[in-house]
Amino acid sequence: MAETGAPVISHGLEGVYIAESKICKVDGSAGRLYYRGYSIDLLANNSTYEEVCYLILYGRLPKRRELDAFRKKLIEARPLPGMVIDVIDEFARRQDPMDTLRSAVSALSAYDNDMNDSSEAANFDRSVNLVSKLAGIVATIGRCRNGGGYVEPDGTLTHAENLLYMLNGSRPSQKDAKLLDLMLILHAEHSSNASTFSTLVAGSTLADLYSAVTSGIAALKGPLHGGADEAALRMMRAIGSPDNTERYIEDALKGKRKIMGFGHRVYKTYDPRAMIIKQDLIALQENESQEVKALTAIALRAEKMMIDRLGKTHGIWPNIDFFAGPIYVSMGMPIEMFTPVFAASRIVGWCAHMMEYWQNNRIFRPLEYYSGPVDLEYVPLDRRK
Ligand code: ACO
Repeated sequence: MAETGAPVISHGLEGVYIAESKICKVDGSAGRLYYRGYSIDLLANNSTYEEVCYLILYGRLPKRRELDAFRKKLIEARPLPGMVIDVIDEFARRQDPMDTLRSAVSALSAYDNDMNDSSEAANFDRSVNLVSKLAGIVATIGRCRNGGGYVEPDGTLTHAENLLYMLNGSRPSQKDAKLLDLMLILHAEHSSNASTFSTLVAGSTLADLYSAVTSGIAALKGPLHGGADEAALRMMRAIGSPDNTERYIEDALKGKRKIMGFGHRVYKTYDPRAMIIKQDLIALQENESQEVKALTAIALRAEKMMIDRLGKTHGIWPNIDFFAGPIYVSMGMPIEMFTPVFAASRIVGWCAHMMEYWQNNRIFRPLEYYSGPVDLEYVPLDRRK
């Protein structure tokens, strides 16, 4: 309690632990990230999205035959039910893709053989199904927005390759597939971030996994969370030319506007995922378009200025969303698909956290300090002034 008698309110739940977890460690002061004990650098350099999904869901790296079996399950789960395609086709041209994604996941529950089965085994199966299908749903949303039809998945392709194939209707280059695989690995999991927490809140009522995931998608949409990748690229495009960068940032800071892709509740140093993406972006440059080169130059100048101005003094450093835009542009990904692709990756983190939380479930029910009046007189409608 504060001296006034009012409780101390942790605005935005800053500093509040909501659960114990063995899935992910975010070391915000050292700038380190671990999935199930493995550092993100090791996973980014050596693993694949499919293997990372296995690791996150099952808690350990798979043996070869386990990974093969897991991949097979993912591939078998790829085709989308006709009605889900119809929902996407109907909504995608009128809505933000994240809104269509929410509806498509809701529609998917109509194809669950037994929604009453809430056993752990059933939820593992649902999780694998969701991990597999979200990629196809996202790709189909991207196509239907532009009047393209559903592309049947290709079982010979990896998860990342198939997402790009279902989005573009043609097999991706090795470079694009590798980059997307990396982006999927980096976005797969991040402890109790806003969308994962939102997933847990919905699931803690013992609502089903689809409902919980839909809540996660809703939370991911906003520009303070997953939507920041799109907002950061829009800012880079608004800056236009590299020489305009410093003036733009200066004006934004003077106007107390946030620079999207910077700052983090937990990282008070460089987000290790942003560092990996930055290095990949720099490595890409040689064969890239003028647009990607200009965006990269803008991003690097903005990064330097922000670190000089706010990094060491205010703990505001680049986060994963800052360098993501130019990478996605380099693979021809439309800007409005950045956040849905993020969701197609984070789905595994949402599901793993939900299943872990259900092992020791308790409904989330925090308190609110009411500071309004009480016992007001009820004046009948026609006597109110
Ligand atoms: N640019 C400029 N100033 C910033 C930024 C930024 N990107 N981020 C924080 N600040 C400033 C705030 O204005 C505030 O200043 P003040 O104390 O003078 O008012 C101070 O730093 C604290 O900021 P909060 O918003 O209170 O920090 P919080 O921990 O609540 O929020 C968040 C973290 C939402 C990520 C914030 O840094 C932000 O809005 N960043 C931009 C959006 C973004 O990139 N989001 C993606 C995060 S990563 C992810 O979700 C995948």
